[in-house]
Amino acid sequence: MDSHKEQIITNLIKIEDALARLYTRFSKKSNFTAPVKKFWAAIAGEEKLHSNIMDKVCQAVHEEKATVSVDLRIEKLKEFISKLNEILKKASSENLSEAEAYSIGAKIEVELDEGGFTGLIHTTDEKLNKLLKLVENDTKKHRMMLVNYSRGIR
Ligand SMILES: [Fe+2]
Repeated sequence: MDSHKEQIITNLIKIEDALARLYTRFSKKSNFTAPVKKFWAAIAGEEKLHSNIMDKVCQAVHEEKATVSVDLRIEKLKEFISKLNEILKKASSENLSEAEAYSIGAKIEVELDEGGFTGLIHTTDEKLNKLLKLVENDTKKHRMMLVNYSRGIR
């Protein structure tokens, strides 16, 4: 058991959960069109999957089932979480437009990708490594989609 690693991974789980909750909220906005709601529901599902993957990694660390390396400083993570909380405050506005939602999502995914948080965990467990790679690729994909959508590019 490595409590420092577990602390970092637990924070990553919290981030993925927060994103899943935010995007789920976007998927239920009554002023959004059906396809836009569907888009957010799909992306929320992916964040939920990421949270489950991180959960598995955390368990593997806890049970010492795999060698996991975490090249991530807790300070950097905390910095991101406080930025995220600021963004989440803005996102709680009731009459948010579709464009505003895209730009909020883009801001988050850019920060997340640039922090490289999802690419800094490695493990000797092949299965887990593949799952972590999926999280990394999804985050890059989310970044690209949301940045484009926020600029009106489809
Ligand atoms: Fe994402």
